[in-house]
Amino acid sequence: MLTVKNLTRIYKLGKVEVNALVDVSVGLDEGDVTCIMGKSGSGKSTLLRQLGLIDRPTSGQILLDGKDVTKLSDSARSKLRLTYLGYIFQEFALLPELTAHENVYLPGMMLAEKSVDYRGRAKELLDIVGLKERIDHKPKELSGGEQQRVAIARALINNPRILFADEPCANLDTISSERIMETLVNLNKEMGVTVVFVSHDPDDKKYANKFIYLKDGRQVAEYI
Ligand SMILES: Nc1ncnc2c1ncn2[C@@H]1O[C@H](COP(=O)(O)OP(=O)(O)O)[C@@H](O)[C@H]1O
Ligand SMILES: [Mg+2]
Repeated sequence: MLTVKNLTRIYKLGKVEVNALVDVSVGLDEGDVTCIMGKSGSGKSTLLRQLGLIDRPTSGQILLDGKDVTKLSDSARSKLRLTYLGYIFQEFALLPELTAHENVYLPGMMLAEKSVDYRGRAKELLDIVGLKERIDHKPKELSGGEQQRVAIARALINNPRILFADEPCANLDTISSERIMETLVNLNKEMGVTVVFVSHDPDDKKYANKFIYLKDGRQVAEYI
């Protein structure tokens, strides 16, 4: 489904070059739950941003269903992102002025398929993540765990095939973290969504069936 070949991302800061990702190759199959692990600064977010079509690699290929998406135009990539991919950030990234309900259906309005009732679907998704009673709350009226569950519902509004989550539990307590991870795994089991998540907690390995370990931007065999 998603094949990555020799992916390299070098950030250039003036004359300084940061090799954030070097020669990474992986294959993700439909239905996989993949965990990207590594210490802080090892390139996890950089890799996730390449896979999620948020950033472009310096070299290498990303094939989505066999088609190289690295060379597509910005607008073609945005369309693919809206249609096939969902993204969850460590710091939730909800719009503070909008209610939970509005935050969730907004990306639907951007795609604007005429046949879809986005407001209704947003309500269903908020119900699935256990926030039926909170739909009219604004982010600041919700706990961290609840905000992250709104962000998960938002990532699902356009029925993505792949859901990316960048350390979704980093800002949460243990109980909320478990609930978030269980929500992601249930979405995978029940709705068949392919999941790719980043973590630096070895405990989270139990949620995944595939692993990518990074050290200084390179793939390694073990989490060290
Ligand atoms: N936009 C950027 N510009 C320059 N360097 C960056 C940028 N983003 C990340 N880096 C550097 O790239 C390396 C990998 O970063 P990152 O992918 O965020 O790691 P992780 O998510 O594993 O903590 C780090 O050394 C970081 O400082
Ligand atoms: Mg990171």
